[in-house]
Amino acid sequence: MTFNPLKEKGISIEKQIRTWHDIVKRPFNKTEVDCYTRTRQILMNGIETEAWGYKHCMARLCDDLDLRKTLACIRRLEDMQQTTVNWFGPADQSVLNTTLGYEQVAVDLTAWLAQNEPDDYVRETFNFGLLEDFDHLYRYSQWQYMIEGQNPNDILQGMTDVVIGRPTQNHHNDNKIRLRKAYNKETASPQTKVNILTLVSGEQQTHNYYAEHGFMYGNDDLRRTYAEICDVEEEHVTMYESLIDPTESKFEKLLVHEFTEVCNYYNCYKDESDLKLKQVWEEFLAFELGHLQVAADLFKKYEKRDPEEVIGTTIYEPCHFESQKEYVTNILENEIDKRLGENLDYTKISELPDDWASYKVQEKVGEEGAPTEKTIQLITTSLYRDIVSADKKLIKKQPDLLRRGLETEAQAPDTVTPEEYEEMNENDTFEF
Ligand SMILES: [Fe+2]
Ligand SMILES: [Fe+2]
Ligand SMILES: [Fe+2]
Ligand SMILES: [Fe+2]
Repeated sequence: MTFNPLKEKGISIEKQIRTWHDIVKRPFNKTEVDCYTRTRQILMNGIETEAWGYKHCMARLCDDLDLRKTLACIRRLEDMQQTTVNWFGPADQSVLNTTLGYEQVAVDLTAWLAQNEPDDYVRETFNFGLLEDFDHLYRYSQWQYMIEGQNPNDILQGMTDVVIGRPTQNHHNDNKIRLRKAYNKETASPQTKVNILTLVSGEQQTHNYYAEHGFMYGNDDLRRTYAEICDVEEEHVTMYESLIDPTESKFEKLLVHEFTEVCNYYNCYKDESDLKLKQVWEEFLAFELGHLQVAADLFKKYEKRDPEEVIGTTIYEPCHFESQKEYVTNILENEIDKRLGENLDYTKISELPDDWASYKVQEKVGEEGAPTEKTIQLITTSLYRDIVSADKKLIKKQPDLLRRGLETEAQAPDTVTPEEYEEMNENDTFEF
């Protein structure tokens, strides 16, 4: 089914205030929920947080009282939606459980977006980020086992692989070179705009979750692992948001925000297997169509332009979740040695200049060791190997992947070597 969201009325904003009982629903069961219901719930929380935050930023830049009143009303509704969505998470889902859910979102969402992105450069950037979140999932999986004794597949349900990616210690860049080339608002497809804003929202939420929860464990090495990966998520927000044309007006950005919410709820509603959540996705889709009407009216009033020029006449599916193992393996095998160039481009480890800007950052932050390397050192002291979940062929490739994917410069002193990975692979006695 396809439709033009601008032609739908949805539910008017006056009818969107709800009772506390309706705002706070019963959580899902963490062991029974489909992993992709959880990823939708995690992503939509991020989408709502961004929708709320943007309206605060916008209001701070406006001196028109009528406009400020409208923004104040809608962002309150976004905030209520955020509570409903986020609080579907159950109390017994630990911070590490939820963290694995966040990285599953990042991997499978980015892979989906890359395959549905019309702009080659944007797709390349998605594929670049993909291999980093893939490595985060691997590192956090070790901790979920060490701290809570759980199999990563208790959360991932075997849909997403757990093996080494581009090693996290190599994700630390000079933030100036994380900046990428922005699309042109006049020529970019509305799908590109929605894809990027969806991913920015997800990554920003991931950053905020680690920043707000990483301290909740007592183990220093785990706390440092959260700090290290949280900092990479900050780089991801910087990277993905820099793809957005900064010359879009604030009304144009408001329109893209509401359109992005419409597309994501539509996609969630279409895919959802859990009836309770499906009902919410349906209701919130109608809410967002109401917000979109308001954003479109503001755009017409203040800019005297047709909203279709910005968002087109059709809907997109920016968050379809399904297993992406094959796609991710392919990117992993072909792009593990890719690095950020200093001219908004991409390069390879073998072509990096000696004075590459990110070496300095990596040397400094990893001077006393990389917590994500320590993670693997620690798990091997008790299990003699790392926790992995993938087919045997891919697991066997870990030493070779590391050989190709690890920079020889600026290595942390506690780096786990390809030879140590080879030794680990000889010990395949550990099974859940
Ligand atoms: Fe919303
Ligand atoms: Fe990540
Ligand atoms: Fe990320
Ligand atoms: Fe909205």
